[in-house]
Amino acid sequence: MSNKQIGIWITGASSGIGKAAVKEFSSVGFNIFASARRVTELERLKEEIKSDHFEIYPCNVASQANVEQTFKKITSGNQINCLVNNAGITSFKTAEENTIKEIDDVINTNLLGSIYTIKTVLPHMKKIGSGTIINVLSVVTGKTFTNSSAYTASKMGLLGYLKVLREEVRDYNIRVINITPGATESAMWTREMREEHNHRMMNPESVARLMVSAFLQKDNIVTEEIIVRPIEGDI
Ligand SMILES: NC(=O)c1ccc[n+]([C@@H]2O[C@H](COP(=O)([O-])OP(=O)(O)OC[C@H]3O[C@@H](n4cnc5c(N)ncnc54)[C@H](OP(=O)(O)O)[C@@H]3O)[C@@H](O)[C@H]2O)c1
Repeated sequence: MSNKQIGIWITGASSGIGKAAVKEFSSVGFNIFASARRVTELERLKEEIKSDHFEIYPCNVASQANVEQTFKKITSGNQINCLVNNAGITSFKTAEENTIKEIDDVINTNLLGSIYTIKTVLPHMKKIGSGTIINVLSVVTGKTFTNSSAYTASKMGLLGYLKVLREEVRDYNIRVINITPGATESAMWTREMREEHNHRMMNPESVARLMVSAFLQKDNIVTEEIIVRPIEGDI
């Protein structure tokens, strides 16, 4: 199979790590399906990429119905060989300050959104006999940070789900690859935080390159967990 026949569905593709992942996977010549809610940002990215093997599929991952519709649209003419579960939001507040709406949004996007996309691609990957599910977690799964209880719950919940999933799908030649980054310069951080700390944050491009290299790993090896931090440590 040539690279242009290998389909990569990337969620949260309109900015940050997801946008960098689009560019990295695209540079290898894969067939990219880019999803996010902001259509204008996706269209701008399409202009920039200028590839016949890049299509935008606007999708709110927090809506199971929307995920299902998007999956159907993509697979009406393509295979999905790799799903990159990257869409995510946070809320930098204490547990007491967080509103129920903010907590729902974080859990629905980061945890349930990833589960919805996985649930749609699994039968498809089993049918085609292989697949790769790359998930963007966070160092909050291994270290405690205040002002991030809902976010931590969403990423730790997802980690638990993925550990079980990985064991269930081994026999179907489906790889589950978790990337666990520390502070990465993106819109997830407030402008003030970026202005103060950007010199020590990782670039989204560096994180995206890890995804592509794990995806390209040959033979029967799978890099299951990748933890990366800025060399100066956490912020
Ligand atoms: N930046 C960091 O320091 C860091 C560290 C560890 C892990 N991460 C993880 O990295 C991933 C990417 O974040 P980022 O840092 O690149 O931040 P970002 O620039 O804010 O990107 C987040 C992406 O997720 C999309 N998104 C948010 N809610 C969505 C929804 N309901 N449906 C579909 N797409 C949605 C956004 O697009 P739309 O708004 O257009 O929908 C955007 O493309 C997240 O999972 C985050 O938790 C980030």
